[in-house]
Amino acid sequence: MRYKLLEELLRELKEKEHALLLGGGEKAIEKQHQAGKLTARERIALFLDPGSFEEVDLFVEHRAERFGMKDKVVPADGVVTGFGTVEGRVVFVYSQDFTVMGGSLGEMHAQKICKVMDMALKVGAPIIGINDSGGARIQEGIDSLSGYGQIFYRNTQASGVIPQIAVIAGPCAGGAVYSPALMDFIFMIEGMSKMFVTGPQVVKAATGEDVSAEELGGAMTHATRSGVAHFVAHTEEDCFLELRRLLQYLPANNAEEPPYVETQDPVDRENQALLEIVSPNPNKPYDMKRVIQEIVDGGEFLEVQKDFARNIIVGFARMGGHVVGIVANQPYHLAGCLDIDSADKASRFIRFCDCFHIPLVTLVDVPGFLPGTNQEFGGIIRHGAKMLYAYSEATVPKITVIVRKAYGGAYLAMCSRDLGADVVLAWPTAEIAVMGAEGAVGIIFRQEIEKSLDPEKEREKLLDQYRKEFYHPYQAAKRGYVDQVIDPVVTRLKIVRALEVFWSKRESGRGKKHGNFPV
Ligand code: HXC
Repeated sequence: MRYKLLEELLRELKEKEHALLLGGGEKAIEKQHQAGKLTARERIALFLDPGSFEEVDLFVEHRAERFGMKDKVVPADGVVTGFGTVEGRVVFVYSQDFTVMGGSLGEMHAQKICKVMDMALKVGAPIIGINDSGGARIQEGIDSLSGYGQIFYRNTQASGVIPQIAVIAGPCAGGAVYSPALMDFIFMIEGMSKMFVTGPQVVKAATGEDVSAEELGGAMTHATRSGVAHFVAHTEEDCFLELRRLLQYLPANNAEEPPYVETQDPVDRENQALLEIVSPNPNKPYDMKRVIQEIVDGGEFLEVQKDFARNIIVGFARMGGHVVGIVANQPYHLAGCLDIDSADKASRFIRFCDCFHIPLVTLVDVPGFLPGTNQEFGGIIRHGAKMLYAYSEATVPKITVIVRKAYGGAYLAMCSRDLGADVVLAWPTAEIAVMGAEGAVGIIFRQEIEKSLDPEKEREKLLDQYRKEFYHPYQAAKRGYVDQVIDPVVTRLKIVRALEVFWSKRESGRGKKHGNFPV
């Protein structure tokens, strides 16, 4: 047998690669572009450091035979997988190729995804999944379903070990939505991303409701109503930039510390602006985001789920160069009350931070849990319990600053001393009480007020008495529930000092398999 010359072998390799790298072919690529979408490989190139991508499994082929699949060529089986770097740090990635059988997932497509997930776990590096797919490859039947099952299993094994991030850059329907849902963060793109368990036609057939795909599962629906999306971008370019920004805050795995970045912003910078932003009048709302921007390094704050449950703010920042997770009530929305959605939003974020050694800074201005039948019937009891559980369970440094109101169960839920806060600071404007004066006086002095000759005057007198007793931080400080009452202008310095001291704290586990997190 004549051996091929090396040049021939190399030419053959190039030809094979060239054909495969074209995915579904020029026509299909043009169709993808006409739909306003980049191809799977263009997306990877946009996301990773230039020239850093190493593709694996380019030559993988399906082995299905039925429904016309026997001789069907499915380049790279419809998904591009491999690894590369983002600002020099390793990440693993898969990107579904819609130009190849609609990016549908068959047996080998799933195996390729599982392989890079396994590699990411072995190495201890984030995995990023770019989803653009018609879902389970219908021709491959149960093997496609099994493929999804294997991905879900790995998502769960990898949870809390490596960051997992999904980008939805096209359709993502049926059970396919559950891999992104099992990951840590979901990015969606306006007008392009669609996520739903059952599409508009099925909804119409089952319930008679007329709903467009965009309304049912578009980016804004999931950003504002369902809370499924954590970040929404206008374009794919913006989406990948924002994703790169998020990665700057995350460690590669749970055995690493989050990346420290030296700051030019002095840690002892005084926060005079806080005196203007927060009025001592508890009925005057203010924007808590301005408080956050004032105290963090360089005013830079990456907000997570910013359009969902806006009564609570969560996101990443740095303080003194250390990454922190911030959880803060937002008096601008629902007066900063806790409700079902805000408890869900905060709890998931707290747990993410705890998994990856990100200390928690909690800013409190909370009048209580939101009252109402909607909330009670919706299960505010079990949703609110998630916050108590998440904070109590978290072993990262926990620093709490009580800015103004801190009432009742919501005071406890916002990382109070009793849930394991390491340092609790309060401004002189803090009001720490079982409930607000109006409610409290109505309950404990009802008889006195009713019997009084001038009930209104009596009520005012008792309200005054209650406010004097509780509308300050000193009762709590007397008992040690608050460690320090501070001048707001030194808030940044006090938090950074606390973070630096408690960074080295050690808390051992309870030796149990795992707790039973309320859901
Ligand atoms: C096989 C598929 C496919 C699928 C799309 N294609 N989805 N092939 N299995 N699931 C193919 C199409 O036949 C077509 O092939 C090509 O991909 C592009 O699809 P188009 O329909 O031309 O594109 P478009 O008009 O943009 O519509 C996209 C779409 C639509 C909305 C995604 O294709 C669609 O509705 N597909 C089916 C979605 C679905 O019901 N999937 C199963 C969900 S159940 P050609 O050769 O013509 O180019 C599921 C269960 C998962 O996923 C369970 C996990 C536990």
